[in-house]
This record gives sequence, structure tokens and C-alpha cells, in this order.
Amino acid sequence: MSAESVRFSDERLAEIEALVKRYPSPQSALMPVLYMAQEDFGYLSMDAQQMVADVLGLRLMQVREVVTFYTMFREQPCGTYLLEVCTNAGCMLNGANELVSHMCDTLGISVGETTSDGLFTVTEVECAGACGGAPVVQVNNIYHEKATPETMDAFIVKARSEGAGK
Ligand code: FES
Repeated sequence: MSAESVRFSDERLAEIEALVKRYPSPQSALMPVLYMAQEDFGYLSMDAQQMVADVLGLRLMQVREVVTFYTMFREQPCGTYLLEVCTNAGCMLNGANELVSHMCDTLGISVGETTSDGLFTVTEVECAGACGGAPVVQVNNIYHEKATPETMDAFIVKARSEGAGK
């Protein structure tokens, strides 16, 4: 992604302008604007982070402090399906580590990697806030609770068949 290609659309800029007016300072709108950038560009490259800083009148370091703190902000491209496995205590005690190993073996990647077809990325995350459904795998914005190797295998097969049609 080049710096030239990292520009919010006019529509997005208008949306941001309206958003900023709802907060006491532009910095307060940083997280929603970062979400917008991630949605528009897939991930938060340094160019995208600089653009967000410029749009909000912040220093790049103020943006970096937030991007590097929260795991939901991505600084690298990821697959079409981002498989985020909670490996915190509740999920770990219900088989999350074995699930991660199974998914990585099935996909032929390690944690943090993306399959060569660009479809799947597997990551480990902290508590997803759905401990009653442990183990939890968040796929993009959808929670898969009480996930098992079998349910994730079925998801992967289905996603592959849909991905092949894209
Ligand atoms: S420990 Fe996994 S959702 Fe809370």
C-alpha cells in the first residue's frame, strides 16, 4: 500500500468531520477513525496511521500509542478470514491451545501467518469477553463459541468453497 493510495474518500472525510464534532477534542475520535481506516484499507500501515494523525491533527506517536496497545488494530495485512482464537484462561482450560494447533496444522501455517491463498490468518487473542462459550474463535466480527476442531474444520471447508467462487 503506497502513501498515495492511503487517502480517505471524500465521503469518509465528511463522516469523520461529523464524528469529531460529537467529541470534546479530535483525539477523542481516534479509535473510531482508526476502525474506519482499518475497514477501508484492510490494515493500519504506517502511511494509514500518518494519514489518521494528519486528519485529526495529532502527532503520529499519539496514534501509534493506541494502535500498538489494542490487539484489534492490525499493522499487517491479514487473510479474508481472520481467525482469532482466545487463549486466555477460560478458553485455554477448554482446549483453546489444542484448537490453535489443530487449525494451524489444517491450514499449514503458524500463529500470526496467513495462508498462501490469502484466505485465512490465525492469531491468538486475550479474553474475548464470552467466557461462557469457551473456547471462542472470533472470525472477523462473528463469534464461534464452544468451538471444536470439527466445527472449525467445517467452517474452513465452507469458507474455502465460498472463497473459490470469489
Ligand atoms: S477466556 Fe476466552 S472468552 Fe474469556
